[in-house]
Amino acid sequence: MINLSTKYLQGFLTDNEVKEYENKLIQAHKVLHDKNYPGTDLRGWMDLPVNYSEEELHYIEVEAEKVRNNSEILVIIGIGGSYLGARAAIEFLKSCNYNYLDKKTPSVFFIGNNMSSAAVSEVLEICKYKDVTLNVVSKSGTTLECMVTFRLFKKLLEEKYGKDKAKERIYCITDPSKGLLREIALKEGYKIFNIPPSIGGRYSVLTSVGLFPLSVIGGDIHALLQGAADARSRFLNLDLAENECYKYALLRNVIYNKGKFIEIIGGYEPRLDCFFEWWKQLFGESEGKDGKGIFPASVIFSTDLHSMGQFIQEGNPIFFETILTIKKDPYNLIIPYDESNEDKLNYLSDKTLEFVNRQAFRAAAFAHFNSGTPIIHLEIDSTDEYNLGYLMYFFEKSCAISSHILGVDPFNQPGVEAYKNKMFSLLNRPGYQ
Ligand code: PA5
Repeated sequence: MINLSTKYLQGFLTDNEVKEYENKLIQAHKVLHDKNYPGTDLRGWMDLPVNYSEEELHYIEVEAEKVRNNSEILVIIGIGGSYLGARAAIEFLKSCNYNYLDKKTPSVFFIGNNMSSAAVSEVLEICKYKDVTLNVVSKSGTTLECMVTFRLFKKLLEEKYGKDKAKERIYCITDPSKGLLREIALKEGYKIFNIPPSIGGRYSVLTSVGLFPLSVIGGDIHALLQGAADARSRFLNLDLAENECYKYALLRNVIYNKGKFIEIIGGYEPRLDCFFEWWKQLFGESEGKDGKGIFPASVIFSTDLHSMGQFIQEGNPIFFETILTIKKDPYNLIIPYDESNEDKLNYLSDKTLEFVNRQAFRAAAFAHFNSGTPIIHLEIDSTDEYNLGYLMYFFEKSCAISSHILGVDPFNQPGVEAYKNKMFSLLNRPGYQ
C-alpha cells in the first residue's frame, strides 16, 4: 500500500481546481486503456505483472543461481532504461553500499552508461583478478555507449577464460526478434533473455532487465511481481479515494499549472538515491516533449537540506516536492546515554535514530510548506521486494496517466534518438552521414 497525504497541500489547491482536472484524468484513463491506442503503443508493462511466463521466471532463477555460484562480480552493461531500474532495485532492497556488505552474492558494477575511459578502465581493473559474468542490456542492440563497452569487457573475458568458457558468462537482454545484439548473441552462442517488443526501456524494470540482476543478488522476484500485480488491480479504479496513483498524477498537474514547474522528489534514506534516478528518467523522458513537462529533480535529506534546502526554502519559488517516507525501520538503532554528556545530547538518549530522522522530515516539511512549497507526501511500509514492485508500478502508471493529462506521448523519446543518430554521424558510422 501507498499512503498519499495532502496535508502539506492545504491552502495551495482548492477542491474545485482538483475537480476541474477530473475530466482530463478520465480521458487519460480511457486513452491509456483503449484498444486502439493513438500514440506509440508500448503498453506491454501494464499487464506484465499478471502475464509473466512462469517458464521465463524459472529460467531467470536457474541462470541467476549459476552466476551466484561461479562469479564474484556481475557487470551490467546498459544505459538509461536498460540499467537504471536494476540499479534502483538493488540499492532500494539492499543498500547503496551493497558491494561493500558482508555477503555471499556477487558484487554488481554498472557500466556502459558513459564513455569515460577512466570509469571503464577502473571496472576493467577491478574485474581483472575476479570471476566475472557480463549482463549486456540493450533493446535496440545498437546503443553506442553500451556496445562499445561490451566489446572491451568481452575481450577481457575471452582473455581470462578463453572464447568457449567466456560464452558461458555472457548474458544478452534484448529484443526477441531483431537488433545487432541479438544477432551477435545468436552467432556467438551467448545466453539470451528477451525484452518484450511492447515494452520500452524506462518501463522495463519488471522484465528480465530488472528481474535477472535482482535474482542474482538473491532478491525475491515473485514478491516483486506480486507487489506490481496488486498495484495493477488497485490502480484500475477511477475513484480517486481508492486510487493513489491517479490522485498523484492529477495533483502534480494541478500544481504544475499553478506555476510550479519543477518537481523535486525527496526522501530521508540514501538507499532511495538510485530509485530517484530511475524515477527522474521515467518522468523526464516520458513527459519532457513538445515544449511541455514537469522537470524532475531529486534530493536526499538531511544531506541536501545542507545544500539545496536554502534554495528550496527561499529561492525562486518554482518547485513542489514529493516526499517518499518509509514506515518501518528494521534497524532500531538507539542513541546511547553518555555519562559525561559532553556533546549535550542526552536529551536524545534512548531514542532511535529513526525517530530523529522522522523529526527532520516533519521540521523540513513544515519549513518548506510555510515558505510556499507544496508537498505531496507518499509513504510505503518497508523497503522489501513487495513494496518495491508496488511502488514501481505506481510510478509507471502515474507517469503514463500524467503524460496524457499533459497531452504528450509517454512512450517515445524523439530527442534521445536525435542525439544518438547525430553521434553516429560525427563518428562516421557507415550510413549515418
Ligand atoms: O527509456 C528508454 O527507452 C531509453 O532510455 C533506453 O532505455 C536507452 O536509450 C537505451 O536504449 P537501448 O536499450 O536500446 O540500448
